[in-house]
Amino acid sequence: MKIQAAISASAKAPFEIAEVELDDPRADEVLVRLSAVGVCHSDLTMKAVWPEAISPIVLGHEGAGVVAAVGADVSGVRPGDHVVLSYRSCGSCPQCASGHPPYCRDFRTLNGIGSRPDGSPTMRRNGSPLYGSYFGQSSFASHALAYESNVVVVGEEIDLGVAAPLGCGVQTGAGTVLNVLAPPPEASLVVFGAGGVGLSAVMAASASAVGTVIAVDPVPSRRQLATELGASATIDPAGVDVVDEVRRLTGAGATHAIDTTAKGAVINQAVEALAPLGTLALVGIHVPEFALNIQSVMSGGKTVRGVIEGDAVPHDLIPRLVALHHDGRLPIEKLIRRYEFSDIDAAFADVASGKTVKPVLDLTSG
Ligand SMILES: NC(=O)c1ccc[n+]([C@@H]2O[C@H](COP(=O)([O-])OP(=O)(O)OC[C@H]3O[C@@H](n4cnc5c(N)ncnc54)[C@H](O)[C@@H]3O)[C@@H](O)[C@H]2O)c1
Ligand SMILES: [Zn+2]
Ligand SMILES: [Zn+2]
Repeated sequence: MKIQAAISASAKAPFEIAEVELDDPRADEVLVRLSAVGVCHSDLTMKAVWPEAISPIVLGHEGAGVVAAVGADVSGVRPGDHVVLSYRSCGSCPQCASGHPPYCRDFRTLNGIGSRPDGSPTMRRNGSPLYGSYFGQSSFASHALAYESNVVVVGEEIDLGVAAPLGCGVQTGAGTVLNVLAPPPEASLVVFGAGGVGLSAVMAASASAVGTVIAVDPVPSRRQLATELGASATIDPAGVDVVDEVRRLTGAGATHAIDTTAKGAVINQAVEALAPLGTLALVGIHVPEFALNIQSVMSGGKTVRGVIEGDAVPHDLIPRLVALHHDGRLPIEKLIRRYEFSDIDAAFADVASGKTVKPVLDLTSG
């Protein structure tokens, strides 16, 4: 079928929205008419580093829409279902079988090669292949081909333009708090970077009644938003020694920390700001090589661990997050600014500059 898609031909080129041909769904595929898609910082990183050899690509991995058709083997969703799209997993490797699909053996093949795992493209433009299976969705488009493992039914109550970021950014920040760190009420959590992921962590910590939640970000409007969402304190890293300030606010240091900045210097601040036996979750991706402060990790018995997609099973966590949103405890809309599909370049620029936390593109406007 003919669809509209935002094509990324190279790192520097602006997006080009054009008509492309999308395959009919295969037996294991779900055709989704997309309503909205969030922009995650990972889309910016991927646009910048995506190999020319597997370009042009259609990015986008926070799609939300309505199921239009399903392949013969699909039983979990039906046409008409309102769905959020997330990441794919195989369902049977040791990590999937033990409830940790973000570390799926086949994660890269299923999400990061731009085509189906067998190498076939899902999209074509004027007969030439386009890479249209990014995160099993490529949702900077009017329609997506997705799979049961990454299609989550969310019901008709939640606005799909609010639900879209649940598929990655919100799931990642909230899941890191709820699934991985699980800080108790007496804990102190420092979130480095108050963007889409960091503020989702702040919301989840606030919903879990964590006593001390500190957000660190150089952008004043983001610190302000962190306070509105429940942070008990914020720190401008430009103004103070961040480690001293965390110690001043917590006494012995933070029991838990999250890095969403992907900056080595900030990761070392986070390590040093931890109390003995504290845990740091690394969430920011594409961290340049740097020397981790091993001495601080060793002498404090600290834990530094990586977290992908909040260690979440999307079919479990996303409905829980929808319920929290329904109860007013996860006000995702406060992070969102809406853009027409044709303004995708502006949406990317506004994430890069810090102007917008979470752009959501209206895909019905293309
Ligand atoms: N691990 C995963 O599964 C996963 C999933 C989604 C996103 N990500 C990654 O998480 C990161 C955050 O994504 P996002 O969408 O929230 O991005 P974002 O750009 O909205 O947030 C990053 C924030 O860091 C802040 N920052 C910059 N320098 C800082 C400093 N010195 N101290 C404190 N804060 C500083 C920025 O002002 C910004 O608010 C990105 O690297 C993204 O690719 C990872
Ligand atoms: Zn797997
Ligand atoms: Zn993402």
